[in-house]
Amino acid sequence: MQERLDKLKNEIKEALKVVKNSDSLKDLELKYLSRKGEFNQILKSIASLAEEEKKKIGSLANEVKKDLMDEFSKIKNSFDNEEKIVFVDVTMPGTKFSKGHLNPITLIQNDLENLFTSMGFMVLDGPELESDYYCFEALNIPKNHPARDMQDTFYIDKKNTKGEFDLVMRPHTSPVQVRAMQKYGAPLRCVAPGRVFRSEALDACHEHTFYQMEGLMIDENISMANLISVMKELINGIFKREVKTRIRPGYFPFVEPGIELDIECTICGGVGCASCKHSGWLELLPAGMVHPRVLEHGGIDTDKYSGFAFGLGLTRLAMMKYGISDIRHFNGADLRFLSQF
Ligand code: DAH
Repeated sequence: MQERLDKLKNEIKEALKVVKNSDSLKDLELKYLSRKGEFNQILKSIASLAEEEKKKIGSLANEVKKDLMDEFSKIKNSFDNEEKIVFVDVTMPGTKFSKGHLNPITLIQNDLENLFTSMGFMVLDGPELESDYYCFEALNIPKNHPARDMQDTFYIDKKNTKGEFDLVMRPHTSPVQVRAMQKYGAPLRCVAPGRVFRSEALDACHEHTFYQMEGLMIDENISMANLISVMKELINGIFKREVKTRIRPGYFPFVEPGIELDIECTICGGVGCASCKHSGWLELLPAGMVHPRVLEHGGIDTDKYSGFAFGLGLTRLAMMKYGISDIRHFNGADLRFLSQF
């Protein structure tokens, strides 16, 4: 009897080794372990054995049956898992990943860099932590000159060997003018976009950190006519339409003469609103012919060369182009704002 049991057990185990799917597993189960299956035939015949033998073989048979049933259910589980692999519809649209957005100031900066490089201008960088010399002295603003009050500058609390505070967070991009002249000489065409800092009381129109783009062109016979034509090119390039402009005199120590270019307020269309202080005009572009003293600091021969410069407020421009009424949005990191661009 024991021999029969062992033989059947081995036969079933061999059959289980080659079973390929749940259907053939079911067939095997039916054949061996069902009520009418071969295993039960053996169990039935145990009844006719002697008492002693009945006990021994009975418990052995139960053990073998349990062992086999475990084996069956293990294989069944593995088939179930395989069959559970779900159908993938490759034609379904995928999950959208949200990409980052460029800040509107970066968008405008990129546009302007393209525009100016197409006119033969280099794009330059300058240090944000700048010396007093490049920020003021070289731009014809001597120490203690009242013109220094035009910008509320952040001075760095560190004295040089002469006991002076000579490092500042640059309040404008104009220092790049003299650095560029010293490095490249004349003729020269360059723009220098970047961050600038001022100790401002914050409100909808004032931030301590904002962006400007300096422009400089030096060559023989450069005149106000060149300046105005480049400025117009710039405005049309940005707004992609004709925008009404006006030019009036302006004072900046590093240009002579100096001008201010205003555009008709893009928010109210010239009627007057809070953004244009109810004048219908917005100051956009201060500029002028580079002062000879500035050219001299840059090592330029003033008998041969002249030049123009401008200082565009990139942040202000982004506000006008996109109709943004509060400057604090730009550095606010609010995704509801940024994801609109
Ligand atoms: N640097 C000036 C400012 O931030 C702006 C400026 C005015 C720049 C006239 C220029 C210029 O290059 O010619 O207030």
